[in-house]
Amino acid sequence: MNPLFAFDDATCRALAEAHGTPCFAYSASVARAGFQALRAALPARVRLAYAVKANPHPALLRCFAGLGASFDCASIGELARVEALGLPPGRTFFAGPGKREAELAKALEMGVRVQAEGWEDLARLDALAAGEVAVNLRVHPAFDLDEGNRIIGGTGPSAFGVDEEDVPALLARAASLRHVRIRGLHVFAASNQRDAAKLLAIHGAVLDLAKRLHEAHGLAFEQIDLGGGLGIAYAPDEAPLDLARFGHGLSDLLASHPWFAGELILEPGRFLAGPCGVYLARVVRIKESRGVRFAILEGGINHLIRPLLTGQAFPVTAVGKGGGDLPYTLAGPLCTSLDRLGDAVLPELAPGDLLALGRTGAYGLNEGMTHFLSHPVPAEVWVEA
Ligand SMILES: Cc1ncc(COP(=O)(O)O)c(C=O)c1O
Repeated sequence: MNPLFAFDDATCRALAEAHGTPCFAYSASVARAGFQALRAALPARVRLAYAVKANPHPALLRCFAGLGASFDCASIGELARVEALGLPPGRTFFAGPGKREAELAKALEMGVRVQAEGWEDLARLDALAAGEVAVNLRVHPAFDLDEGNRIIGGTGPSAFGVDEEDVPALLARAASLRHVRIRGLHVFAASNQRDAAKLLAIHGAVLDLAKRLHEAHGLAFEQIDLGGGLGIAYAPDEAPLDLARFGHGLSDLLASHPWFAGELILEPGRFLAGPCGVYLARVVRIKESRGVRFAILEGGINHLIRPLLTGQAFPVTAVGKGGGDLPYTLAGPLCTSLDRLGDAVLPELAPGDLLALGRTGAYGLNEGMTHFLSHPVPAEVWVEA
């Protein structure tokens, strides 16, 4: 089976017939295997906190919770989804540059570890707390080792975290807090990175930053949160992340920082959710326009907006038709020429043909512009196989 697609052609066809199109289908066995492979490669002192923003489907959350995952949330809605899992306190994190008071109150009530992104998070938590509260400080580093990555955004101005150069002033101010104590560091500095050496260089730089803060300010870190960013292949010629190399590299990093006795946190979203999902949509019409052959599908950026946001195309196959050599531009049904899912080389298509887009388990439906044009919201099918 093609590893870029969680289901084979026969299963895709059966799912489309049973649930209608367009729809998303998620494979429990692929999600489980991905989590277990990553867990097995990592040192015991690394905790996996699934980034709910990648895909908050309740069955996927239950699947990861059952495998021992912690969870990284970014809103009160995501906190509520994780609360519904009934986990013990201490398994949930909350990051985000604009946390409202009600969200911080919810985090406190749930015993969630907050990634404080500035003075306001610290002060609001301090005012809300009844007893001591440990938080992590999110820092926007002065280094950028994932250059050119539009998601990370480089070393320029950022809405996220405290600028590294402003940390000393913030720590001085934080000394006045009654309840809140900074006991961890959070830095998110990579996105869709499949190169283990690059990821390790970024994580090494974060540990060096933590060491500098520890030495200069006596901060005792219980946790260093390295954020997400573990990459996956979206095309047959893209090599997957070398998990063994990554895991050994993290062990080496921990060994080279004997001052740090706490745990590392990883918050992968794409890596854990992406491979389990397939988006199924039929061709509505074929249109040739000035030398370009369009396949206009039942869904577009209302269901998958990543290609527009980042240029990241998903792998596509024509179900039951095999390979082909015709170039197509895949368009959606929305009344905007922004509605493109990318270009693909496919066999000759006709209305009614079923296309499958792989790796759509992360940053798929929950990120799309589902409300625009009021098309019906596609089904999401959890396949226990
Ligand atoms: C704080 C935080 N953690 C984790 C993630 C997940 O990133 P990825 O899907 O690249 O692993 C994100 C993504 O935006 C994030 O903002």
